Amino acid sequence: MGEMMNEPTLLKRAVEELDYVVGCNRLVQEQDLPQLNYLKACIKEFFRLHPFTAFNPPHVSTMDTTIAGYFIPKGSHVLLSRRGLGRNPNVWADPLRFNPDRHLQGKERQVVLTYDELRMISFSTGKCGCPAVVLGSTITIIMLARLLQGFTWEPVCKELPINLVENHDDLSLAKPLVLIAKPRLPQHLYPNI
Ligand code: HEM
Repeated sequence: MGEMMNEPTLLKRAVEELDYVVGCNRLVQEQDLPQLNYLKACIKEFFRLHPFTAFNPPHVSTMDTTIAGYFIPKGSHVLLSRRGLGRNPNVWADPLRFNPDRHLQGKERQVVLTYDELRMISFSTGKCGCPAVVLGSTITIIMLARLLQGFTWEPVCKELPINLVENHDDLSLAKPLVLIAKPRLPQHLYPNI
């Protein structure tokens, strides 16, 4: 949300996609997700630039192996840096720029939140990868889709850009992000208000 507040054209594009695919007379549903490629590209970019933990859970290699020219002996404790991979300038052009379009340039017709080649880590991959890729992807996409479809968002502090610097001890924002949400759909779609 912080990235989108700083770049309102991205927010506008994601909301326009939702309005085009879903409209304003019903809430976005799971069946709409295949058509929400821009929204999914935004989430993939959030995963790349702002992983929720610095490292993947550690693994121990069970045999000698060589990866990208590095010899990794059996018994090594392997830690993958999620941030290091996601912001690697040898892999990503202009790595610190939040740019969802970079995930729309592939040949796949559907944007998926996973990455097999370890260019970044979302759900990781292989035998130890997350077994709940579909559930985790669906929950994440629906949650952001509902937030954007259901409300207009604006920062309390009008001074842009919002400071997105992270804490040193974890990767949460050093300063909390405070936004104002206003309903933007017909009232009957908000049963609890
Ligand atoms: C956006 C949501 C999620 C993300 C980004 C995510 C990501 C990950 C990652 C990176 C791992 C570690 C892989 C490794 O060890 O290399 C993992 C493991 C795991 N995840 Fe998820 N996950 C998500 C949601 C979920 C959900 C909803 C569930 C269960 C309902 C789940 C269940 C698990 C389990 C059981 C493991 C351990 C697998 C193993 O060690 O064999 N995850 N997840």
